[in-house]
Amino acid sequence: MLKDNQLQIIDNLINDLDGHQRSWLLGYIQGSTQAVAVNLDNLERPNFSPVVQRKVNILYATETGNSKSLSMELHKILHTKGQKVKSASVNRLKLESLDKDARTIFVVATHGEGDPPEAAKKFFESISDAKDQVLAGFSYAILGLGDSSYEKYCAAAVTLDQQLQKLGAKPFTEMQLLDVDYQKTKDNWIERIESTIEEIDSNAMGRVIPIRKADETLPAKRSTMGYNRLEPIVGKIKDIFVLNDIDSNKQTFHIEIKDFGDYAYRPGDSVGIIIPNTKGPDAVPRLYSISSSPSLHEGEIHLTVALACHDNADGTKGFGLASSYLSKMGIEDKLRFYIHENKLFELPSETQDAIMIGPGTGVAPFRSLTFERQEKGNSGRNWLFFGDQFSHCDFLYQSEWQEHVQLGSINQIDLAFSRDQKNKIYVQDKIKSKASELWKWIQGGAMVYICGSKDPMSIDVERTLCEVISECAGINLDAAEDYLLQLEDEGRYIKEVY
Ligand SMILES: Cc1cc2nc3c(=O)[nH]c(=O)nc-3n(C[C@H](O)[C@H](O)[C@H](O)COP(=O)(O)OP(=O)(O)OC[C@H]3O[C@@H](n4cnc5c(N)ncnc54)[C@H](O)[C@@H]3O)c2cc1C
Ligand SMILES: Cc1cc2nc3c(=O)[nH]c(=O)nc-3n(C[C@H](O)[C@H](O)[C@H](O)COP(=O)(O)O)c2cc1C
Repeated sequence: MLKDNQLQIIDNLINDLDGHQRSWLLGYIQGSTQAVAVNLDNLERPNFSPVVQRKVNILYATETGNSKSLSMELHKILHTKGQKVKSASVNRLKLESLDKDARTIFVVATHGEGDPPEAAKKFFESISDAKDQVLAGFSYAILGLGDSSYEKYCAAAVTLDQQLQKLGAKPFTEMQLLDVDYQKTKDNWIERIESTIEEIDSNAMGRVIPIRKADETLPAKRSTMGYNRLEPIVGKIKDIFVLNDIDSNKQTFHIEIKDFGDYAYRPGDSVGIIIPNTKGPDAVPRLYSISSSPSLHEGEIHLTVALACHDNADGTKGFGLASSYLSKMGIEDKLRFYIHENKLFELPSETQDAIMIGPGTGVAPFRSLTFERQEKGNSGRNWLFFGDQFSHCDFLYQSEWQEHVQLGSINQIDLAFSRDQKNKIYVQDKIKSKASELWKWIQGGAMVYICGSKDPMSIDVERTLCEVISECAGINLDAAEDYLLQLEDEGRYIKEVY
């Protein structure tokens, strides 16, 4: 129908346009064709079809927010290039809802010992249980975030790639794995995604695009000194003492670090401790939640470290590597560490209420948060759930909490000391007994935080929260679970568990 020179003009024009301009042109042609009753489909030419913009879906699996913030960065860039972008966490994603008409980009962190992030586990299970070839025709890219000092580097991303291919999906560009210095190296990957998508768009539909290779060496861009394992900083011990009283079964150390320079942090961030070379290979840094407030304890970082112990086979007592190293620190001793940001740890707004559930060392980030809110004069209320074994010797930072209650910087406090009475009482029992009040706070827009031991504490607490929501909202447990996941997606339900 069209003459060769006309086709040439169209081809040249399309190649010259960016995403926005192409969308505009498509709309323009459609508008004009209505007027002259010509359909785009009548543009007869083998190997040529109009540029139909397809969606880009970005799906992230994150534990501490790096994958989410990188996804958001990519989202913005692709959006400004005129792409139709959607991003979401894989938390609630069902395999059936993976869109074969879209280009899907996964940004996947690895945690634990080569595991997917906690919230992504269901999605990973659904992928591994799926039947072969159910994802035939699905097109994706993967960015893995990890830390090469772990034995299973970026294992979650690698597993996802293998599983997707097994299910018949095809990558449109090679998987890229980025290490702890990903801030310096991510731009190359973003550029590759951008140009690959543009290339796919500008080629006639159906034309095969060769798979672009992942970058092997990526140039450094910006210093992340102090914020990753590879560029740690040095500080000195200002103070160290045990928080538990005599009679306790535990030793929890309050450690203050000073003289580390001008490195900022936020409540919810933790510190990665570099353990000096032992005889064996380098030990993986251990993380400890920061328990100081950046506004109040200026120039200091406080940690709340429980000495981890176990019984050796020969009957002697053994201790955890990092916690025993820290417990032996003396005043003025030097310590190498980096700040590990938790970008998912949203702070409450000035007027927002905060429900903080943190037994044991889980209380650390709440000490930081409460002092910070007090210092900033926030009007939102604070409710602390704390617990441990005995009230007389394990009430960590007791006098500070009492003062907060007197000053009104803690509005409610519920304590669960499991061994103070015959029947064990835990934080989840306290939560249950305050169900309707808690529900009022949640409905009023409160943030909900759980910090401390993952198993069993956070699992039991989460189950209890679901029960409370189910009971108070009059919905079944599945719907209550969805409600909590929705809060998590909105950044109102935050877990820092280990
Ligand atoms: C985000 C985050 C925040 C955290 N915040 C805090 C915090 O604020 N406070 C805190 O105390 N912890 C916190 N942790 C946990 C902390 O990082 C460490 O995991 C913890 O201190 C144990 O490390 P370790 O090196 O002392 O023990 P490891 O040497 O790693 O040992 C782990 C456990 O195994 C036991 N073990 C070791 N060897 C043996 C053996 N041969 N036989 C039997 N058992 C053995 C140890 O006793 C210990 O209980 C946090 C973790 C994360 C991920
Ligand atoms: C407790 C813990 C365990 C980790 N385990 C691994 C691991 O097994 N393999 C790996 O490659 N990276 C591991 N990492 C590194 C994370 O994948 C890396 O910090 C990543 O940037 C986190 O992304 P996120 O913030 O999106 O969760 C671990 C990090 C933490 C804090």
